[in-house]
Amino acid sequence: MTIETLQSLAKDIRTHALQDLAAASTDPVVQGAGWKTDSSRQYLTPEINSALLAHASEVDLKGAIDRLFNAEIVNPSENRPALHWALRLPPQSDLTQSEHVTTVKALAKAESLIQSGAFSAIVHIGIGGSDFGPRLYADAFADHQVEGLDLRFCANVDPLDLDLALRGLSPSETLIIGISKSFGTEETLYNLGRARTWLESALGSEKAAEHLLLVTANLDRATVWLNGVSATTLDMHISVGGRYSIWSAASVAVMTGFGVDTFKAFLAGAAEMDLHVKSAPIAENLAARLALLDYWNTSFLGFGSRAVLAYSRRLRMLPTYLQQLEMESNGKSVGPEGADAPLATAPLLWGGEGSVGQHSYHQWLHQGTHVVPAEFILSPGSHSDAEGVEALTAHALAQAEVMANGRSLDEVKAEEPDLPDHIARQKVHPGGRPSTFLSTHELTPERLGALIALYEHRTYLAGVLWEINSFDQWGVERGKTMATRLKPALSGKEKADDPTTRRIIGQIR
Ligand code: F6P
Repeated sequence: MTIETLQSLAKDIRTHALQDLAAASTDPVVQGAGWKTDSSRQYLTPEINSALLAHASEVDLKGAIDRLFNAEIVNPSENRPALHWALRLPPQSDLTQSEHVTTVKALAKAESLIQSGAFSAIVHIGIGGSDFGPRLYADAFADHQVEGLDLRFCANVDPLDLDLALRGLSPSETLIIGISKSFGTEETLYNLGRARTWLESALGSEKAAEHLLLVTANLDRATVWLNGVSATTLDMHISVGGRYSIWSAASVAVMTGFGVDTFKAFLAGAAEMDLHVKSAPIAENLAARLALLDYWNTSFLGFGSRAVLAYSRRLRMLPTYLQQLEMESNGKSVGPEGADAPLATAPLLWGGEGSVGQHSYHQWLHQGTHVVPAEFILSPGSHSDAEGVEALTAHALAQAEVMANGRSLDEVKAEEPDLPDHIARQKVHPGGRPSTFLSTHELTPERLGALIALYEHRTYLAGVLWEINSFDQWGVERGKTMATRLKPALSGKEKADDPTTRRIIGQIR
């Protein structure tokens, strides 16, 4: 019933000025776990919100939340629960803690690495969910890195990536941490193999093994790869998805690089958001409301992308992190039963660091022919230099206001009466660009944990609304298989099947 209602409500809502809709908004702010969201500058009315909430109860969004936290099979194609939330449960909780133990063991390993002081450098090798989270965390808290420990990252199969990660390091003082849930990812195995050779040529194979730490859910493959030498391994739980694994042993390098107390605070913040999402009624539930908004903007208003504008140096990597979380989770068109998704699913997620983006794509956001919902994330903090914080905050507020309210031709002419008409017209801002404002006072480890947990739950609930499985990723397999098939064509041993591929190989060989 409500899909038809939503479709008819979507018909003329875009003819309304966002300024008027914002003024008429009856519940603009939702808050939880230290975060506030203001969605009054979205194409929403009290009637649309009611219809969205009616849809939420029709699809039993609350039940979906309960199924997740009851460790039910929410990933049907792999017949698994999704247990990322269990990694951040407070230690005393009563749930069987096999998954939580993996994080506890990693924290203990990090503590011992810090105490030993045995290494002056750590190189984290992993890709996708085995890279983006730790890299975001390290970038967010770079000013809190443990003294005397150089933390590097390597993800790409381009050999330059590892060259740069190892540049200037000494094998005798370096710990290589290899993260791969499957222990079957080509890029990671390639880089790990090169890094191991780098260690072994300096230290010999036995000693080199002391400089290797492997984190995986596939211990058998790791053991084969180690080929008889004994190196430290840590477990990743099979029911924690790669893009949901920042809470796991995959983060052992940053647990070490930034101290276990910081990571425990990060976990505690996520647990606080879990509590909010688990207990808040749907209408006051941050994750549910943001998921419903994604559903409304994408499947009914037809917005093909969403821009995440992080007005915070600590969050500059968040859009990159969220691209995998949201687009690998919900970039699908067929549901768990094999049926086509009834409506458009996940939008392109892009964005960047504010205010830096204002000197790049904000021209497009303001005056381009495409209208894109934006998400401002502001955590001004209490930096000693108040002037910079004030400027950052003012820019975020100003951008959201101008994007929504625009600047009419009359306003341009009133402010610049001598402008020739053809110039005045080029200074018009059409406005009508919707945005949501997420804010917290300071981006502490707790608040970052809460924010990432919020996006995880929002992603899952949006997947429920789109009737797809957010926890598998069959779409990444074919490309990998094809790359393996094309390698002999690159060396000239075989011809590529596809004529265009064949021609391009000819051009680049
Ligand atoms: O992109 C596919 C993918 O499987 C991601 O889901 C995952 O985070 C990444 O590759 C790395 O996988 P692994 O941790 O198994 O090496």
